[in-house]
Amino acid sequence: MTWLITGGAGYIGAHVARAMADAGEHVVALDDLSAGVPERLPANIPLVEGSTLDGALVARVLAEHAVTGVVHLAARKQVAESVAQPLRYYRENVGGLGTLLEAVADAGIERFVFSSSAAVYGNPDVALITEDTPCAPVNPYGETKLAGEWLVRAAGRAHGIATVCLRYFNVAGAGAPALADTGVSNIVPMVFDRLTRGEAPRIFGADYPTPDGTCVRDYIHVADLAEAHLAAARGLAEKSLTGDLTVNIGRGEGVSVRELIAVIGEVTGDRRAPVVEHRRPGDAPRAVASARLAAETLDWRARHGVPEMVESAWRGWRARLAQ
Ligand SMILES: NC(=O)c1ccc[n+]([C@@H]2O[C@H](COP(=O)([O-])OP(=O)(O)OC[C@H]3O[C@@H](n4cnc5c(N)ncnc54)[C@H](O)[C@@H]3O)[C@@H](O)[C@H]2O)c1
Repeated sequence: MTWLITGGAGYIGAHVARAMADAGEHVVALDDLSAGVPERLPANIPLVEGSTLDGALVARVLAEHAVTGVVHLAARKQVAESVAQPLRYYRENVGGLGTLLEAVADAGIERFVFSSSAAVYGNPDVALITEDTPCAPVNPYGETKLAGEWLVRAAGRAHGIATVCLRYFNVAGAGAPALADTGVSNIVPMVFDRLTRGEAPRIFGADYPTPDGTCVRDYIHVADLAEAHLAAARGLAEKSLTGDLTVNIGRGEGVSVRELIAVIGEVTGDRRAPVVEHRRPGDAPRAVASARLAAETLDWRARHGVPEMVESAWRGWRARLAQ
C-alpha cells in the first residue's frame, strides 16, 4: 500500500508520516506549507507542495504515486480564526475535503482516515464523552470538522471507501524536538511562550464547577496519536476494520489547567504563580474522552503521560529558541 498523508508537513501530520514510514508503510506527503515545515519530514518521505483544493494536482499525485489509502490531516485549526474567517474555514476544511474525496473516489481508492476533533462535541455536560454523545459544535472550526465527518461517511458509503474518523482530544508533546508544535494556540506552547517572555501563565476562569475551579481536559501525546493513525491504517489495509468507524482518541483521564501548569513548572523550573483572568467564551468546564472504543476497535491505548508530553514539548521549544 502507499498512503497519501495530507498536511504531512504539519505538527501532527509529520508525526503520522514518520510513524507510518518507520513501520514500513510507503507514504507520500501533500502540504500547501501554509503552516507546514518541510524539514519535519525525512528525505525518504516525498513531499508534494500543493493544496487539497487543487483537484487536478491531487489526482496527479494519487496516480503518480499509486496511492491506495489516504490519511487526511490538512486543515485550518484555530478556533478564534474560524470565528473571524468562517468562509475560509469552510472552503479549506470542507471544500478541500470534498475535492480530495472526489479524486479519491475517481481513483478507486478504498481506504480513508480523517482527522476529526473533540471540537465536534461542543460543551457536553458529561463526565466522559463517548462517541454517542450528541455533537453540537460551538464554533465554525468544530462545525467544519463535523461536516467533514458527514462528508467522509457519506462518500464512503456511496463509493465503497472504508473510512475511519479519529476525534482527537488535546494534543501535546513532540516525538523529537524538531517536530514540536510551532504555533502558540495550544495550551502547552502558550504557557511556554508566557514563561519565555518572563510573564506568568494565564488561567482563563477559576470558577468552573470542577475540583480546582479550572477547566479539565484530556491530553494526548502526539506520538500516541500517530500510533492510533497507524493502527487505523493497518486495520483498513488488513480489513480487520471494514470502515465507517468514528472513534475518540484520548487518554480517558482529566487534567485541570492548574494541574497542567504545575507540571510545566516542574519541568521548566519556572514555578511562578499563574494569573487568573476572565473565562473565555465557549470553553467547556470539562472535556474528557471515553477511550474504550479506541481500545476495542483499534487495539490502541495511549502510553505516555502528561509529564512526558510537557518534557518533550519543552525540549522542542528550547531547541527552537536556540536556533
Ligand atoms: N493540534 C490539535 O490539538 C488538534 C486537535 C484536534 C484535531 N486536530 C486536527 O489535526 C490536523 C492537523 O493539525 P496540526 O495540529 O498538525 O496542525 P498544523 O497546522 O500543524 O498542520 C496542518 C497542515 O496542513 C497544511 N494545510 C492546511 N490547509 C491545507 C490545504 N488546503 N492543502 C494542503 N495542506 C494544507 C498546513 O500547511 C499544515 O502543515 C488538523 O486537521 C486539525 O484540525 C488537531
